[in-house]
Amino acid sequence: MLSPKRSPIKIEPPVSGTEKVLADFDEIKRACVLWGENLLRMKENNAPTGFTWYGYDILSNIWHIDALLDSAHRDFFARIQNMPIADIGAADGDLAFFFEHLGFEVDVIDWPSTNWNGMRGVRALKELLDAGAWIHEIDLDSQFRLPRSDYGFVFLLGILYHLKNPFYVMEQLARATRYCVLSTRVARRTVDGGVSLDKAPLAYLLAPDECNNDATNYWIFSLPGLLRLAERTGWRVLACRTVGDTAQSDPSSIDHDERAFLLLESVGGS
Ligand SMILES: C[S@@+](CC[C@H](N)C(=O)[O-])C[C@H]1O[C@@H](n2cnc3c(N)ncnc32)[C@H](O)[C@@H]1O
Repeated sequence: MLSPKRSPIKIEPPVSGTEKVLADFDEIKRACVLWGENLLRMKENNAPTGFTWYGYDILSNIWHIDALLDSAHRDFFARIQNMPIADIGAADGDLAFFFEHLGFEVDVIDWPSTNWNGMRGVRALKELLDAGAWIHEIDLDSQFRLPRSDYGFVFLLGILYHLKNPFYVMEQLARATRYCVLSTRVARRTVDGGVSLDKAPLAYLLAPDECNNDATNYWIFSLPGLLRLAERTGWRVLACRTVGDTAQSDPSSIDHDERAFLLLESVGGS
């Protein structure tokens, strides 16, 4: 629950107009920085009681998306501006609410028992922002159905390694959206350095206590494994980059963490 002194403040639309902002990802980045500063103030002024806001900087994903969009794709979001989008594994939904602010109709999808604050954070932010985003409680480890089948774009950021069945999830998404940005942890070798993973399409299955003592961490792909997964589940890889320890990453060490970011286009099935 929010503290009683909560004070909704309206975050204004980008000054230069949504059309212009969507046509150039540099403008989206600028708008995101301004909007993010206001959001931070809003969170500070409305400290929740009984839970805490999600502990990581969700909006920093904007810089990784930026790096995926080459000169031919800077107007990417203008091309899909009349289509709904979804943020899957959204945590408190910061990124979803930012894209609603840019004019998109947004579905937020997460699951209370895995979520940092049982999805109380995303519901509180929706209220504070007076947002229209639809919040869905869906367990992606079940044989789920997505709320819609006509998304223009889906964010699947920082969640794939938390899922038991990446193949099913990726196939379901490919049927329901045109584009997706995905990020997940990848690895180039085992922790002891004994087995090289980076030349083959592999996935490493973590033990329940092996990574951050978080039993919801499951599959860590090699980069070729992740690309193979995307291709086998109905996607064309438009762009790919990795960040972090790009030389000696492993599936679980804090100091050998590498993340892959992919821009994917659905090709309609496997
Ligand atoms: C590491 S956070 C990622 C947050 C944000 N997308 C980002 O990149 O900063 C992973 C999110 O995935 C959600 N998640 C994990 N397993 C899930 C499941 N089985 N069904 C739905 N959501 C799940 C968690 O609740 C959490 O909010």
